Amino acid sequence: MKKLLIKEGRVIDPVNGVDEQLDILIAEGEVVQIAAQIEDQEAEIIEANNKVVTPGLIDMHAHFREPGFEHKETIKTGSESAVAGGFTSVACMPNTDPVVDNASVVESILNRAAEAKVNLFPIGSITKDLAGEELAEIGFMRKSGIVAISDDGETVMNSQLMKSALEYVQAFDLPVITHCEDQSLVGEGVVNEGYYSTVTGLEPIPAVAEDIIVARDIKLAELTNTHLHIAHVSTKGAVELIKAAKQRGVSVTAEVTPHHLALTDEAITTFDTSTKVNPPLRSAEDVAALKEALAEGTIDAIATDHAPHAWEEKDVGYDNAPFGISGLETALSVLITELVQPGLLSWSQLVEKLTVKPADILGLDKGRLEVGAVADVTVIDPEFEYTVDVDKFYSKGKNSPFAGRTLTGKAVTTIVDGELVMKDGQVL
Ligand code: DOR
Repeated sequence: MKKLLIKEGRVIDPVNGVDEQLDILIAEGEVVQIAAQIEDQEAEIIEANNKVVTPGLIDMHAHFREPGFEHKETIKTGSESAVAGGFTSVACMPNTDPVVDNASVVESILNRAAEAKVNLFPIGSITKDLAGEELAEIGFMRKSGIVAISDDGETVMNSQLMKSALEYVQAFDLPVITHCEDQSLVGEGVVNEGYYSTVTGLEPIPAVAEDIIVARDIKLAELTNTHLHIAHVSTKGAVELIKAAKQRGVSVTAEVTPHHLALTDEAITTFDTSTKVNPPLRSAEDVAALKEALAEGTIDAIATDHAPHAWEEKDVGYDNAPFGISGLETALSVLITELVQPGLLSWSQLVEKLTVKPADILGLDKGRLEVGAVADVTVIDPEFEYTVDVDKFYSKGKNSPFAGRTLTGKAVTTIVDGELVMKDGQVL
């Protein structure tokens, strides 16, 4: 394996409080030296002058669709999309076909992932077939390598079963990731309930549908003393509940997506089905609360909820399109443009929420740039300006509400396990 020497980058490692110009030498898959000036004749040089160098980005919530929905995405295309976006590790949700509810599906995914360019961490389901009726084979899946359990896309509506799941995982030291939507309030809804659902006539989903399940699951986590992680928080009400729970010392963490931070429900007035996502894009008031919660630490991590769909599936009327946004290739740029540039989040905060926070939530020994660490590294050009062209996505999912948007900042180099896997936007 060739040595790599990253020269003169602004190295940001929130864990070690580093934010300064340094060189990084990588050999045999590890970071072997970090210093102001490193020379090595054998190493391939990566010029990082005026670039930001961070621990490899970690997406704790994505959908790679394999097995079963390979027309939407495969492990191969999903991992290419990830490294193109600067991500070195991705945790994949279990709503595949078959569902990841037993050890053999976990093992087959990990076998397929061995060829992938990115580190892939499977998430198992909470309930068999995501049906919400009986628990999945959580213990066996843990032995096979899952890092969390979740029925993402579905809410476990049976509170007794959710309580059992939270009690059961304690033996396996796994976080429970909850998708919070009271199904009886969601009904046939497709967009946020409010002014824009009224003017478009699209079926509404009230914010309280999310708040009610966030409240229930926090109560259950408090009762069972189990780590609960709340997926894709989208409402001001949920933020308030999480903040109060954290103040009481409940073991709760939360993530938010780039699209819920960057877009409001006004975006649905185009009737563009790439704005149809679950939970739905919310009001300006909700978005302001999410931004504040992220900056103050109530929301711990940022996750893409990368949800690729085939073009023909989204190219239908709004009511009939599937929910989801293809997010891996725009996430970082959207976050730099919408949060760092306007000064809402510092670089160090952004890096933390995309690296060590998700690593710690999932129990991964990642998210740090220090000697001896596995060499997962992302190099970002903070000034790179470009217009999003979905036809250039590595992902099969072209369903992006950011298509045609001009964004600033982009990953230019991705290194996974000491190997160069993306350079200048090209996956190698
Ligand atoms: O919009 C979404 N799409 N939200 C989810 O929770 C699931 C996802 C999917 O699997 O397509």
